[in-house]
Amino acid sequence: MNSSERALEGKRVIVTGGSRGIGNEIVRQCLSSGADVYYMSRSEAADHADLSELAASNGRQVTWIAADMADEQSVSSAVKQVLDTAGGVDVLVNNAGITRDGLIMRMKTEDWEDVLKVNLTGAFIACRAVTRAMAKARGGAIINISSVVGITGNAGQTNYSAAKAGLIGFSKSLARELASRTVRVNVVAPGFINTDMTSVLSDEIRASISGSIPLGRIGEAKEIAEVVTFLASDRASYITGQVLAVDGGMTM
Ligand code: NAI
Repeated sequence: MNSSERALEGKRVIVTGGSRGIGNEIVRQCLSSGADVYYMSRSEAADHADLSELAASNGRQVTWIAADMADEQSVSSAVKQVLDTAGGVDVLVNNAGITRDGLIMRMKTEDWEDVLKVNLTGAFIACRAVTRAMAKARGGAIINISSVVGITGNAGQTNYSAAKAGLIGFSKSLARELASRTVRVNVVAPGFINTDMTSVLSDEIRASISGSIPLGRIGEAKEIAEVVTFLASDRASYITGQVLAVDGGMTM
């Protein structure tokens, strides 16, 4: 096994929304890189047994903690549970996210609020809950999963784009607040990635999206997880406050 495969050796990692999709791949790659992983979602991953097997084969542990990112108390107590049992946390990945798409004229206030709550406020609460421990330890890495639409905007996604753009401003400010404590904060902005979130799109729309991507295809969750794992590791020790688009060239 080479050093890059064990780039997170012994690190304690929290991933929000690791039950499927991109988050699930992040959990897997962190385990393979030598981390103990705590993932937070409303229900346990359907492949939790697989994750446990992967953890065991790497001499690590994976723990599911029930949490609703839309509920402040739930997020705070889930993070506290990790801090109490693991004695600290080295990496936080805010990955949980939802969409409630619609043109603004028809968008319910509830659709706006739900999206802001999970994608932005949930990340704020999780960050707030880990920063004291990370600052005290004088080290840590936070990776927030935004989206290319937080950079470019997208018709029908005013709520989601606002939340994802908000996450970028939030992360840059937090990076400045925590830099003196060697806590790095970065953003990964995925383009179109094959997951449940995008499986609702018709073949026609998928083909037209692929045509607009310079690399000519929709991305895979693994390709996002690779970048997150790198940013979480000490190999990215001089990178903070950055937004890395992983989008096949969409936003160049
Ligand atoms: P997904 O729908 O497959 O998975 C979302 C994850 O978030 C699940 O694990 C789910 O349990 C969790 N989650 C949702 N609401 C939650 C809540 N209230 N409490 C706790 N957990 C909750 O989505 P996907 O595609 O894996 O997306 C992951 C992240 O990547 C999201 O933040 C999404 O906005 C972002 N993203 C995805 C893109 C894509 O094309 N799939 C593109 C750009 C960004």
